[in-house]
Amino acid sequence: MTFSTRVNETRLWQSLMDMGAVGGLPHGGCCRAALSREDKAGRDLFVGWCRDAGCEVTFDQVGNIFARRPGHDTTRPAVATGSHLDTQPHAGKFDGVYGVLAGLEVVRALNDADVETRAPIDVVVWTNEEGVRFGPPLTGSSAFAGATEVAAVHASLTLDGTTVRQDLESTGYLGHERPGDRRFDCFVEAHIEQGPILEAEGRTIGVVTQIQGIRWSRVTVTGMDSHAGTTPMNRRRDALLGAAEMLVALNRLARDQDPWARLTVGRIEVEPNSGATIPGRVVFVCDLRHPDSGILDLLEQRIAGSVNDIARRSGLEVTIERFLDKAPVHFAGSLVDTVREAARLCGYPSMDMLSGAGHDAMNIARVTPTAMIFVPCKDGLSHNEAESATPADLAAGANTLLHTLLARAGVAAP
Ligand code: HGY
Ligand code: MN
Ligand code: MN
Repeated sequence: MTFSTRVNETRLWQSLMDMGAVGGLPHGGCCRAALSREDKAGRDLFVGWCRDAGCEVTFDQVGNIFARRPGHDTTRPAVATGSHLDTQPHAGKFDGVYGVLAGLEVVRALNDADVETRAPIDVVVWTNEEGVRFGPPLTGSSAFAGATEVAAVHASLTLDGTTVRQDLESTGYLGHERPGDRRFDCFVEAHIEQGPILEAEGRTIGVVTQIQGIRWSRVTVTGMDSHAGTTPMNRRRDALLGAAEMLVALNRLARDQDPWARLTVGRIEVEPNSGATIPGRVVFVCDLRHPDSGILDLLEQRIAGSVNDIARRSGLEVTIERFLDKAPVHFAGSLVDTVREAARLCGYPSMDMLSGAGHDAMNIARVTPTAMIFVPCKDGLSHNEAESATPADLAAGANTLLHTLLARAGVAAP
């Protein structure tokens, strides 16, 4: 009987549309920066849905939300799933949200089918995966995995000048549970691929075997503020011009490395940011990714060499400070096999693949067997309001998740 259990495609789609309306943007996307008013509204909506589905909802000291569907054997560790509800500034309706609501849909489908699992099932919302309003990204899952101290998270300053602790208190998501005290049997995260491979290969399910490494570094370029009208061109120490040269040089470095290398500068601050003053200080964040840690090391050395050369030639000072380092992650083989088998059981064409995007799963893999399930998104586009996926593919991922979780949680005798 449970093998024939399937999720409700229409209900899953409607939940995604309803959540996408929270922090809705004019071009169809949404913006719910972590612990903002919009994020609180999205969290509250999710918590209400979980309680309506019979889940017990708790949160930990960094705002991670745990919605538990009780199991028959209360002593068994929970089989966990979930992702994030916070978004990029110009987000679509699916990045992160899909993994959270696919987990809720699994709960709803098991309720409809009146299936009692042996182990409980936890649907998790990890705090601040995107790292937009405060950093570093992957905050909640990093604290859960013991890679970040709670005190450091609480003291983090947001773009609005508040501390994370103040926001957790004001949004009502400051829990008592210490991150990581909760034990899982395993964690399986469903997510849109955010890349073009599944669509190009005509596959419905991505069985994710690994996630590439991510490193973020803060580059500070220092020149000298001076007058735009009186300072001759050959007597300037223009930090923005130097930074611009660096951006072009670093982009070239990544392009020349190999097809897997990814280097992005998406955030830059200019001081004093006034039209009539030559900028004396620029800070930009360099996002570097690759499946091989050795190549990341090599690229970081080349980046340092390049920015120092440019600074020297331009009479500037430069410092580089790495503030995020997530090593490449390989998922637990037996759990990956369970995902592949669940896709086969449901009749979906699948393929093994690497994840180009970072996910909370890369932290959770440090403390429990972890795997991911990808579904296609249109043109591989993500971190863009036009992000799009089909109801059928989203349901296929949720069905694969359902049968992966059932395989691990077991079904209590009727
Ligand atoms: O940046 C990432 O890879 C993720 O989407 N936050
Ligand atoms: Mn994202
Ligand atoms: Mn995501």
